[in-house]
Amino acid sequence: MLRGEGSVALVPTMGALHAGHEKLVQTACDAHSNAIASIFVNPTQFGNPADLEKYPRTEESDLEILDRVGVAAVFMPTATEMYPADEETIVETTHLAQKFHGAVRPGHFRGVATVVTKLFHITQADVAYFGMKDYQQLAVIRRMVRDLHFPIEITGVETVRDHDGLALSSRNVRLTPEDRTAAPVLYEALSQAENELKSGKTVEAAIEAIRRIIGTEPRATLKAIDVVNARTFLPAEGVPSEKVGMMISALFGEVLLIDQKEFTP
Ligand code: PAF
Repeated sequence: MLRGEGSVALVPTMGALHAGHEKLVQTACDAHSNAIASIFVNPTQFGNPADLEKYPRTEESDLEILDRVGVAAVFMPTATEMYPADEETIVETTHLAQKFHGAVRPGHFRGVATVVTKLFHITQADVAYFGMKDYQQLAVIRRMVRDLHFPIEITGVETVRDHDGLALSSRNVRLTPEDRTAAPVLYEALSQAENELKSGKTVEAAIEAIRRIIGTEPRATLKAIDVVNARTFLPAEGVPSEKVGMMISALFGEVLLIDQKEFTP
């Protein structure tokens, strides 16, 4: 039940909520009397049907968390409500969506941009909150909102990490105990690369440091490392003077994990 006339904040999620989502929802609730969370496992952003099938679904505990944090409403549509059988319209950021993580998961950001557009329109939210862990997703959404003049403000919220640095993700529950022990290597590699850039080294040296550290972990298969200018999202080179974003993705068994860091060198 929405509460009075105040601004409406949306936290889009695919459920399987963890402390990272809780921080997003808490941030939205602290700033807005009408915070809505959506739970929808969006089929169009999964390239691989097996990945969609295996996506964790924890509806009961999700609703408990959202109730405890104090959202005004939860939106849980069905796939047919979101995607009519004869639908024809998609939303795509043409260039940005095909680079970096998008090159590893073709079509992924088209699915994200399309579903997020629908969620923005259905909820008529004034503000939406997204985690910074999905760094390219946040950039795609910001660009879509700017390009299409959506009347909504986008807020990024810092990544929440486990005690050993592993970024919280709904995918972490699918890691074997051995892969879970190995996975903090992503954060270790990013932290080392951050140190390199902050000590005046080049982007190329920072990328080399990431490769070296991930290379020490046999359970990790590195998929991508990208360092971009945080403002333009173009690849950063040499010794950057502006804020950068570093993105990394690696497979642990069949689970693809991503992580990021944004900082001014
Ligand atoms: O980040 C996510 O959980 C999803 O990509 C989102 C934004 C809810 C769209 O399905």
